[in-house]
Amino acid sequence: EVKNLEQMFQARIDNDEKIEPKDWMPEKYRKTHIRQISQHAHSEVVGMLPEGNWITRAPSLRRKVALLAKIQDEGGHGLYLYSAAETLGISRDELIAQLHSGEAKYSSIFNYPAVTWADMGTIGWLVDGAAIMNQVALMGTSYGPYSRAMVRICKEESFHQRQGYEILLTLCNGTPEQKAMAQDSINRWWWPSLMMFGPRDADSPNTEQSVKWKLKRKTNDELRQAFVDQTVPQANILGLTIPDPKLKWNEERKHYDFGEIDWEEFWQVVKGHGPCNKQRLSDRINAHEKGQWVRDAAMAYAEKQANKEEK
Ligand code: ACO
Repeated sequence: EVKNLEQMFQARIDNDEKIEPKDWMPEKYRKTHIRQISQHAHSEVVGMLPEGNWITRAPSLRRKVALLAKIQDEGGHGLYLYSAAETLGISRDELIAQLHSGEAKYSSIFNYPAVTWADMGTIGWLVDGAAIMNQVALMGTSYGPYSRAMVRICKEESFHQRQGYEILLTLCNGTPEQKAMAQDSINRWWWPSLMMFGPRDADSPNTEQSVKWKLKRKTNDELRQAFVDQTVPQANILGLTIPDPKLKWNEERKHYDFGEIDWEEFWQVVKGHGPCNKQRLSDRINAHEKGQWVRDAAMAYAEKQANKEEK
């Protein structure tokens, strides 16, 4: 009978129907969605840290306001995504415990340090640019709450990408030192940005099933290629060099060819041995513990309001 249900379920997906929280779904569909959506939520929240480091050092009031707004947006994305994951029958507390214990992953990119102001530009341009490429595809994902969360997230990510690109445009039109700072930043962030799309399709254990379920509308390699194709002309406008000697337009394929990612480095970072993994996790745990009084106060207030209503 389960087999029959599974066939009916797959037929709904093939028919491009959205799956909603109370619908029947295979246990594996539920689990893999909790895995991916929570990893995505954790990435948004941990992703606030590298940029948070620069709020007090933004070079002008205008830059500071834009950076603050962007970082707050990331926190908001985390909240929509945790809510979407909760519709699959897991609590926020469990999800956060999984992050803090190291059981749940978050994007490798946030384990690299943001060491100059130019990094604020590059993170917006490349990291948010890569995130949009992935998330626009996810708007068409089969699980309703995930797909709907993506619509607003993508709008906000476009603003993030533009504010980053504009920081770099300003630096690239500035002094030779400023332009050199921008180039150094791209040299450090280019390859980690390509790693955001995950392992090659041939080495990606989840892709095949996720494509069948339309959790993934495009594969890791397809999205990575689309990102490279979109980004190279933007680097040319900035007058910056992408640190890949193998990068070359391929007239036959109508795509850029590019060099091989250092997969050893990728897996090291994913497994917790990147430059900032320990610091990021301990900063998150610390912030959570320090925020306990806020959660206690919110609960006490909610209880008080509920008691009032009863009377
Ligand atoms: N960083 C950390 N872990 C990664 C990364 C990465 N860049 N890429 C892949 N992995 C992990 C996967 O989570 C998976 O681990 P698990 O099976 O133990 O959970 C393993 O490596 C194998 O990879 P895949 O089989 O390719 O995994 P998956 O099908 O989940 O694809 C991808 C990975 C593309 C990241 C997918 O999960 C996805 O699209 N997620 C939603 C987007 C997202 O999380 N973005 C976060 C960064 S953007 C931002 O926050 C601004």
